[in-house]
Order: sequence, then C-alpha cells, then structure tokens
Amino acid sequence: MDEKDKKESSESPSNKKIDRRDFLQGLAGVPVLGALAVAAWKQEAYRRAIRSQRAAGSAAPEKEDDLHVALLGVGAQGDVLLNSMLKIPGLRFQAVCDIWSNYNLKRAGNLLRKYGHEVNTYEDYRAMLDREKGLDAVVIATPDFWHAEHTIACLQAGLNVYCEKEMSNTLEDARRMALAAGESGKLLQIGHQRRSNPRYIFSHDVLLKELKLLGRMVTAYGQWNRSAAPDLGWPKRYEIPLATLRKYGYESMHQFCNWRWYKNLGGGPIVDLGSHQIDIFSWFLGVNPKSVMASGGTDYYDKSTHEWYDTVMAIYEYETAEGTVRAHYKTQTTNGSLGYFEQFMGDEGTLVISESANVGSVYREKTKAPMWDRWVRKGYLSEPKLMEMTSEVDMGDALDVRETISPDEHKLTLQFYDAYHKPHLENFFNAVRGREKLNCPAELGYESAVAVLKVNKAVEAKRTLFFDPQEFLV
Ligand SMILES: NC(=O)c1ccc[n+]([C@@H]2O[C@H](COP(=O)([O-])OP(=O)(O)OC[C@H]3O[C@@H](n4cnc5c(N)ncnc54)[C@H](O)[C@@H]3O)[C@@H](O)[C@H]2O)c1
Repeated sequence: MDEKDKKESSESPSNKKIDRRDFLQGLAGVPVLGALAVAAWKQEAYRRAIRSQRAAGSAAPEKEDDLHVALLGVGAQGDVLLNSMLKIPGLRFQAVCDIWSNYNLKRAGNLLRKYGHEVNTYEDYRAMLDREKGLDAVVIATPDFWHAEHTIACLQAGLNVYCEKEMSNTLEDARRMALAAGESGKLLQIGHQRRSNPRYIFSHDVLLKELKLLGRMVTAYGQWNRSAAPDLGWPKRYEIPLATLRKYGYESMHQFCNWRWYKNLGGGPIVDLGSHQIDIFSWFLGVNPKSVMASGGTDYYDKSTHEWYDTVMAIYEYETAEGTVRAHYKTQTTNGSLGYFEQFMGDEGTLVISESANVGSVYREKTKAPMWDRWVRKGYLSEPKLMEMTSEVDMGDALDVRETISPDEHKLTLQFYDAYHKPHLENFFNAVRGREKLNCPAELGYESAVAVLKVNKAVEAKRTLFFDPQEFLV
C-alpha cells in the first residue's frame, strides 16, 4: 500500500484528520520539516480545508433537494464517511449519535459545527430518533453487531439508511434488516463501496461483459494482507465507564476498541476485509458461490483477545454459464506484502484490480488472445508494457530455447483518485432523491453476507460446505 492508500484505506482505523487529500497534496510540497513546523502546517491545512468547504454547510441557503442527514457511529469509519460526505454538496447534517460522548461524538460534532452545520449530539440513538424531526437519511457506522438494531429502528422511523458492511455479524439479523427495508419502503444501501467505484464498474461492464477481454474465466484470486499491529488503544482520560460499556454490549475498553476480533461482536478479518472482495467475486462472475472450503486460525495473536482468526484461506467454487470458476481468497494480518487486490484469470487475459488507485491492469494471454490494439486506440487501455521475460531452457543436446514467461501488461486508463467511499455515498443520496437506483441494496448486501459468513463456519467444520441457492434469497 502506498502512502495515499494507507490514509484512505478505511480499514485502518487510525487516521482521523479531516481533509486527507489536501493534507497529502500539501505534504508533497513540504521539504523536511521539524515536528513543530509540521504540526503548524497541518493546523493551517486543516483551517484551509474548513474555509474552502464551509460554503457547503448549513450556512448556505437551503435548496429544494438538500437532504437532512444524521450520523450514527463516528469512529474510524464514521470519520472516513463524514470526510467524504463533506465533499458532497446538498447535505445538511442535523444530528450525530455515538456512545463515546466525550471523545468521538464530541470530535464529530465540533468538526461539523466548524463546517457550518448546527448539529445536535446524542449518546443514545433512541433519543435521537425521538427528538430529531425532518431527517431524510442516516449513515450508520457502528460495530457490526449493532447494525440490525440501528438500521431497523431508523427504517421504522421513516429514514433512508446507508449502513456499513458487514451487513451484520449474523445472517438472521441481516435478513431482518432486508425485510425491514422492504416493509418500510425506505432505501437501505450496504457499504460495499466498490460497487460504485468507477474503475470497478468500468472493468465489470466494459472489459468483462462487453469486450469479454478475459475470454473464458477459469479462476479468481483475492487477498488482503496487512502487517502485524498492536491492538487499538484509547486515551485513558476519555475512558468510558464500565456500566456504560456494558449497557451497550462491551465488557471492557479493550473489547470496545477491538470489537472486530471478538465473536458475537464482529467477524474477524475474513469478514472485515474479505467481505469487500468476496463481494466482487460474485459480482464479476455473475453468480453466487456453490461451495466453500476454508482453513484458518489465530496463529499469531493472543487467542484470548483475538477470538477470530488472524489468517484465513478460503476456496470457493462458482458455476457460471461458461463453466466452473475456482476462487481463492486469503487474508493475513501479519505481513502486509502486496497489500490488497482481486484477480480474475481467463484463457485470453487476466484482470488485476484494487480499490488502491495505483493497481489496475489487464494482461493479455499471448497464446490465445487477439491483439487489444483497438481497445488501446479507443482509450480503454494503455499501450502495452512489454513484460516479455525470457529464460533459457535446458534442452540437453538441443539448442537453447527461449520461452516467454509473462504476458504484456495494459494499465486501465480510467483513473479514480477521489475519496474511495464518495461515489457510493453519492449513489445513496441520489437514490434518496429518486435519481438513481442503489448500487448495493439490502438484497445484494444479504447475498454477500451469505457468501462471506460461511467462511468462518467452513473453518470450524474443516470440510467443504455447500450453498443452497435458496440461501441467498431474503
Ligand atoms: N466500507 C469500509 O471500507 C469500511 C472500513 C472500515 C470499517 N467499516 C465498517 O464500519 C463500521 C464501524 O467500524 P469502525 O472501524 O469505524 O469501528 P470503530 O470502533 O472505530 O467505531 C465505531 C463507533 O461506533 C460507536 N458505537 C459503538 N457502539 C455504539 C452504539 N450502540 N451506539 C452508538 N455508537 C456506538 C463507537 O463509540 C465508535 O465511535 C463497521 O461495521 C465496519 O465493518 C467499513
């Protein structure tokens, strides 16, 4: 992962400053500065960002299609979403709710007020729903085990909901969410943001479906490798009292901050990270999986505080219209080498794509594929970067033979350097305005949850588990 990815990757719940883009752009022009100078410079970048974006806040006169929005859960990901939303015109933030009232809630409230939004803050979502009138939508980024209760209550209160992935840590709750959306007649978008990413849409719609650039698809691969890292800590003076933690389902501050690793609260890295990419397998292959087998364990971290597996390898089988596709997914949290990406291999080419803006190429399989010059001329692909590496093959008495061992690489010409979550949020708000259809409605989020949550079950079962097609239906 490059520096931008580290900042943008919402899965690293550490960076909480406002306009990262301004910050990084500015940083590129800053020579080596002392710590104090950097702090002063950051402060100035922060002020500049606020000044330049304040106009989008509630100080501006209200327009007819402005939407009134509440935030529920403003931790690491809530912060990332908030920063993306501050770049979207026409949103009026009205309320924020978070149980960490003297820390995350306070920070988000203060930030929004600086942008000109007069927000009310709440510790308990029920008080927010009782008191706030005129809300159009809520954006939920609480831990997975809270998604169902929060989403269902908000839908029943008449709000459209953007809820982060994983839809829930249990399928029963995910199903209840989808049913509640149907009954309420309100929209429920699940936060698999790659579904709205222009490069993913282009790769799916144009390269795979229209041009059939890869030929007959045979295998897929995905990985999210992350370096070993200490558990998340917290500022001691902002500790939440134990009684409050327990009221909301946490046994300690450690558990509250590291909920992902605990059974009953999250799903571990395979759900946290893998869900994004396993979702892409189904989308790009056009079918849900037929079976999954998996191996995993807590091999590195302390098992008492990392109940879910730090290392998981899964193999899915998909029955597509063209035949079987086998997909291998791997997540490892002890070595970040090569980061995260997905790969699809057909008999005419290979696609490698990632949310990381620097990764996106197709490789032409020379033995079979027609030339791709016309797609280069049309501007879909870059000129090929010749990757012809040759090696001498020992043929005994015969002459040395040179063989080609790598196909040519064409970079995707479509670039996307905006905040990763912004298009998905825009899609949601435009759907609320009736101008677009959701890219990841509840039923799709549910299908994805069915495929992903079964991996942990397959690890436990130590055998291949099969999916009944009915399982994917709400
Ligand atoms: N789409 C993505 O790329 C992406 C990336 C990271 C996280 N996520 C998802 O976002 C969600 C939040 O993850 P995170 O990393 O921000 O976690 P986090 O622990 O950093 O933040 C969770 C926030 O919710 C608050 N909270 C906890 N219980 C609450 C309750 N009952 N009511 C109100 N507030 C409550 C916490 O105080 C905290 O501020 C998860 O579902 C996670 O899977 C999605």
